[in-house]
Amino acid sequence: MSAAGPERPDLLASLTGKVAVVTGGARGQGAAEAELLVALGAHVLITDVIADEGAALAERLGERAAFVTHDVSSRAAWDRVAEVARERHGRVDVLVNNAGVYRTGDILTWPEDDLRRLLEINLLGAVFGLQALVPLMPEGSAVVNVASISGMRGHGGALPYAASKWGLRGATRSAARELAPRGIRVNCVCPGAVETPMIAGSTMDLSHLPIPRRGTAQEVAGLVAYLASDAAAYVTGAEFVVDGGSTA
Ligand SMILES: NC(=O)c1ccc[n+]([C@@H]2O[C@H](COP(=O)([O-])OP(=O)(O)OC[C@H]3O[C@@H](n4cnc5c(N)ncnc54)[C@H](O)[C@@H]3O)[C@@H](O)[C@H]2O)c1
Repeated sequence: MSAAGPERPDLLASLTGKVAVVTGGARGQGAAEAELLVALGAHVLITDVIADEGAALAERLGERAAFVTHDVSSRAAWDRVAEVARERHGRVDVLVNNAGVYRTGDILTWPEDDLRRLLEINLLGAVFGLQALVPLMPEGSAVVNVASISGMRGHGGALPYAASKWGLRGATRSAARELAPRGIRVNCVCPGAVETPMIAGSTMDLSHLPIPRRGTAQEVAGLVAYLASDAAAYVTGAEFVVDGGSTA
C-alpha cells in the first residue's frame, strides 16, 4: 500500500500486450472492439470477409493491428488464422467471436441454403474458432461470443438468426465448463439494437425502452473488453445484456 492509500490496479490494463483475434472486425461492433482493444494495449488480429475495410482499419489502428481475410464458416480458413497468430505472436489470449449475419424471412419459405449458411456463420463459425484457437490459448485466456437478445426470447420473422444466437449461448456455457480446467473463460454478450451497418435502414420504435435509443458499437465494445480482461477473472459461462434495458 502506498502512503497515498491502497493501490487501485487498473484491471483493464491487463490487456496490455495480450493477443486478441476479433472476427467480423472490419466494421460495426467488431471494429469498435478491435479499436478499443488496441487502445488498451493489445495486439489485434482483425478478421473478416470484407478485405478492403478490414485492411484499411488495421492500417489506421497502427502496428499492433493486422488484418486477415477469413470466412468464419470455413474450418480451413480458421486454421489459416491460427497459423498467422502462431507466426506473429506464438499464442492467442483473447478470442472475440463477433462475426454474424442477420436475415429476415418467413418460416415456410426460407431457402434451405440460406438457413444452412446463416447457422454456419453465426453458430458453427464460433465453434470452429474454439477448435482452431484454443490450442494456442494459454491459461488466463478469454473467449467472448457475441450473441444477441434475439437469443434470449423469440424473434418472429428471424427464426434462424434467433436459433443461432440461442445456440451460441449454449455453446458458451458448454465451452465454459469444458475449458475451465485449461484456465480459459468463455462468456457471451447479448446486445439489443446497436447502430451498425447490420440494422442500418431498418426502422424500429425504441421509445418504450428504459434507455430509448439504439446502442453504439462502442457501448458493446466496453463490455467485451471487460470480459476479455483480468477484471473478469471470476466470470465464466455467463451472458451479459447490453440493450438499454430492453429485456428488463
Ligand atoms: N447491430 C445489432 O443490432 C446487433 C444486435 C445484436 C447482436 N448483434 C451481433 O453483433 C455482431 C456484430 O454485428 P454488427 O452489428 O457489428 O453488424 P455488421 O454487419 O456491421 O458487422 C458484422 C461483420 O461480420 C462480418 N461477417 C459476415 N459474415 C462473415 C463471415 N462468414 N466470416 C467473417 N466475417 C463475416 C461482416 O462482413 C461484418 O464486418 C453480430 O454477431 C451480430 O449478430 C448485432
